[in-house]
Amino acid sequence: MSTDTAARPSRATEATEATEATEATEATGSDSPLFRPTRLGTLRLANRLVMAPMTRNRAGADGVPDPIMATYYAQRASAGLIVAEATTPNAVGATYPNIPAIHDESHVTGWRRVTDAVRAAGGQMFLQLQHGGRVGHPETSGHHPVAPSPVPMPGTIVTPSGHRENVVPREMTEQEIRDTVADFAAAAHRAVAAGFAGVEVHAANGYLLHQFLSRHTNHRTDGYGGSVVNRIRLTVEVVRAVVEAIGADRVGVRIAPGVTANAMTEDDVDEVYPALLHALDDLRPAYLHVVFADPDQPLFRTLRNAWSGPLIANPALPWPGPLPADGGRAAAERLLDAGADLVSLGRAFLANPDLVTRLRTGAPLNPIRDTHLMYVGGETGYTDYPALG
Ligand SMILES: Cc1cc2nc3c(=O)[nH]c(=O)nc-3n(C[C@H](O)[C@H](O)[C@H](O)COP(=O)(O)O)c2cc1C
Repeated sequence: MSTDTAARPSRATEATEATEATEATEATGSDSPLFRPTRLGTLRLANRLVMAPMTRNRAGADGVPDPIMATYYAQRASAGLIVAEATTPNAVGATYPNIPAIHDESHVTGWRRVTDAVRAAGGQMFLQLQHGGRVGHPETSGHHPVAPSPVPMPGTIVTPSGHRENVVPREMTEQEIRDTVADFAAAAHRAVAAGFAGVEVHAANGYLLHQFLSRHTNHRTDGYGGSVVNRIRLTVEVVRAVVEAIGADRVGVRIAPGVTANAMTEDDVDEVYPALLHALDDLRPAYLHVVFADPDQPLFRTLRNAWSGPLIANPALPWPGPLPADGGRAAAERLLDAGADLVSLGRAFLANPDLVTRLRTGAPLNPIRDTHLMYVGGETGYTDYPALG
């Protein structure tokens, strides 16, 4: 494992220290840095807790956000930042039934209802852009899935008519790769038009960009496969295009080094991710978001050193097992101690609309219930988790 990557001068510390000096006294109720205001790009955040993106499958079959999504996100507006769920930038990239989209005007109108509600409740929001690559099915998207190489995901995938065997994805042509980059940029434009403060490019959890990063899913022999510099190329091109479309301050990137979601395998994370972060760092995006970040692993220090900007860390809490009784607060504080600037939590926000208050005051947390409704359904298990009286 190579942990000797030279540390880059930090962009994050400048912003954080400047804010801390003037705003530490605004910290409310707790000395924990989690509840101190900070800055992210041009945003001023009320605290360092980020609601992690979570697919909840409440959009229409056409990808238009349902009005109950406005209620759900507005209920959670006390998060310093909400990263809204994975949203497809084009039709072929759609993964699962009822996931939202952002590739036509009806999607912009639908999302506008959501961002208006969150803004009215005092919140700030980015939108995650996700192309599924091989994670998708013709019965869901109406298109044959495309991927770096014809390497299918093992097993089955949920479609509108139930579980189906995964199909062998078609290898993307270079023209399709160029079109995909343009689709991400156009989707970012639409997200801003829909009222989002920015977008998070999803290069994690086994979806298209992650598939390009791993030599197990990427067998290409052109400029997008083989060497590390070739495998990181698409993610860098997408982030560059999105930065050019809406400005670096409005762009985040999510990565999941070594995470096995969606049958991913990676055996060279120590080469791929430092190279990726060095290339991305030059584009100065607003933040990097790392999934299942573990401050005890040397990789965490490697990533921190390779990335000069703000780092959002998503702690490695038991998965899928029950959350710790503190909802992840201790793990979050350890990550801040270890150099993260913000911390994202997923399931604790899902079950606790007022999570920030509960963590700050030590109030008990709602347990997660209706797990069968995490990825399907209406209000039950979605907007009916109670806030404190
Ligand atoms: C219901 C659900 C849906 C999720 N959907 C997404 C998603 O759309 N995009 C993403 O990057 N991660 C997704 N995740 C992963 C979360 O963002 C987060 O990384 C994970 O839940 C671990 O954080 P936690 O332990 O605080 O829940 C999802 C997780 C859950 C529970």
